[in-house]
Amino acid sequence: MTAEFRLDGKVVAITGASSGFGHHFAGVLADAGATVVLGARREEKIADRAAEINDAGGTAMACSLDVCDKESVKAFIDRAFSQFGRLDVLINNAGVEAGAKTYTMIDEDDWDRVIDTNLKSAWVLSKYYTEQVLAHEQGGGNIIMISSITDTRTIKGQFPYAISKGGLTRMTEVLALEAARYNIRVNALAPGYILTDVSRILLESDAAPDFEKGIPMRRFGEFKDLDGPILLLASDASSYMTGSVIAVDGGHICASL
Ligand SMILES: NC(=O)c1ccc[n+]([C@@H]2O[C@H](COP(=O)([O-])OP(=O)(O)OC[C@H]3O[C@@H](n4cnc5c(N)ncnc54)[C@H](OP(=O)(O)O)[C@@H]3O)[C@@H](O)[C@H]2O)c1
Repeated sequence: MTAEFRLDGKVVAITGASSGFGHHFAGVLADAGATVVLGARREEKIADRAAEINDAGGTAMACSLDVCDKESVKAFIDRAFSQFGRLDVLINNAGVEAGAKTYTMIDEDDWDRVIDTNLKSAWVLSKYYTEQVLAHEQGGGNIIMISSITDTRTIKGQFPYAISKGGLTRMTEVLALEAARYNIRVNALAPGYILTDVSRILLESDAAPDFEKGIPMRRFGEFKDLDGPILLLASDASSYMTGSVIAVDGGHICASL
């Protein structure tokens, strides 16, 4: 691997690391040399993943996290700094969906849960992370948002998930503008559809084969399709990138969804 893509000496915190992308990213980033801090509510799952990484020769720590609870967010970031002395990269990955519902079908609880988890938490985490980067005189930082191609192109029944992702992409750009003065870069990945608990309701439905045909590359994504892009954003290989949103979707946003 080209040296710029290595993460030796870097500490990376990943929210939503108990399953799906976050669980996968933890291994990819640890393999590239990072010390990884895994956060999620399902403590046993992050503890198991951390143990797997440590057994394989990496360095990982699991730390219980509810991104909708400000005290839990603070404890998560504080733990990374107290254990490792720094936190080079924060990956705001935790996310939920409301099921295949339209705006007439969701209720206020759905709205609050999705918007608070996918959008508000990214601000709360990024704000506290910035404060701690400054307090520890770290000299800079790196925030990665896991948005989605639904930020700009969506289908019926993704309310309010698509709204949260549209906001998250916009937050990436606005934070990039405001955080540059602290030498903190802010970028986003916008994946297409990859089978996890978030996408299962669509990708395992009868409509999935037809939907898949609408992707120019004629397949849904796989976890490994995200490996290069996440390493790019987490590493010094992207040192002049901020405010960028990278679609990883087999060309899906080039077609009508
Ligand atoms: N799969 C796709 O096709 C796709 C495409 C584009 C973007 N994304 C985005 O990718 C991200 C990861 O999702 P995924 O597809 O990997 O689905 P997933 O397997 O369901 O993972 C979601 C993660 O978010 C965590 N989470 C949810 N609420 C949380 C909370 N309050 N506090 C802390 N963690 C919380 C979950 O952990 P706990 O339940 O243990 O807390 C879980 O680890 C999400 O932001 C999703 O929107 C997914």
